[in-house]
This record gives sequence, C-alpha cells and structure tokens, in this order.
Amino acid sequence: MLITRRIDFSASHTCYNPALSDSQNRALYGSEAHPHGHGHNYVLEVTLAGSPDPVTGMIVDLKDVKQWLEEEVVEPMDHRHLNHEVPPFDRVVPTTENLTVEIWRRLQPRFEGTPARLAGIRLYETEDLYVDYAGE
Ligand code: NI
Repeated sequence: MLITRRIDFSASHTCYNPALSDSQNRALYGSEAHPHGHGHNYVLEVTLAGSPDPVTGMIVDLKDVKQWLEEEVVEPMDHRHLNHEVPPFDRVVPTTENLTVEIWRRLQPRFEGTPARLAGIRLYETEDLYVDYAGE
C-alpha cells in the first residue's frame, strides 16, 4: 500500500555551472542561467509504502511525516535562493533532477526504523515538469 503526502515551497535558483563558459551555460540552460536567478513554486509529493497498523489503522503517523518534511525541506528551502543558501547547491547545479536527489538524501534516513518505507518522491518545478526518484 502506498500513501502520498504533498507539500509545496517556493525557492529561487540559477542553473549555471561555473566549470563551463557563459556561452556554454546559456546554450545549456537558456533563461534558467540568468545570474539573478528566478523563482519556482515547487510541489513535492512524498510516497510511503507499508501496511496499516492493526491498532491505529495507519502506515505511519502523518504528524511525524509533516514534521520531517518541514525540518528537511520547507524550513531550509522555502523562500531561499538555493545556490546561495542551501548546500550543496553552492557547488551542485540546482536543476530539478539534482534538487530531487538532495531532497531524497535528506528525507530517506528519517524513515529508517519506522514502519514506513520511503518509496519515491516526485518534485514538480512547474505544472508540466516533474522528476520522479526512488533512490539509486
Ligand atoms: Ni528555474
């Protein structure tokens, strides 16, 4: 059985790799490479796998899940400039792909030792673009 919690946060970023030239960055990332950055309203869906506990009827206490999402994603990332304020994006290009991997890396340990397994996450950068990730 799978259960999914959705949250959103807003953050700014610039997709720019300092190892490449300005023209290479513009060719690769287009307007995403603008040095001032720009914002996105990200939507994150976190899917957990497990079985409902016979006493509680729940796979996992969703209050705990909400708190972990707040601590690992919303508090460090909401209304931040990812490149300047959220490591490792001072040295890793904050594409949706890389942001998804980082969110997984932050969240996955929170579910170790709980009845729920982190089955996958989906991160929307826009309504029509998202990345799915389920670990390595
Ligand atoms: Ni962008």
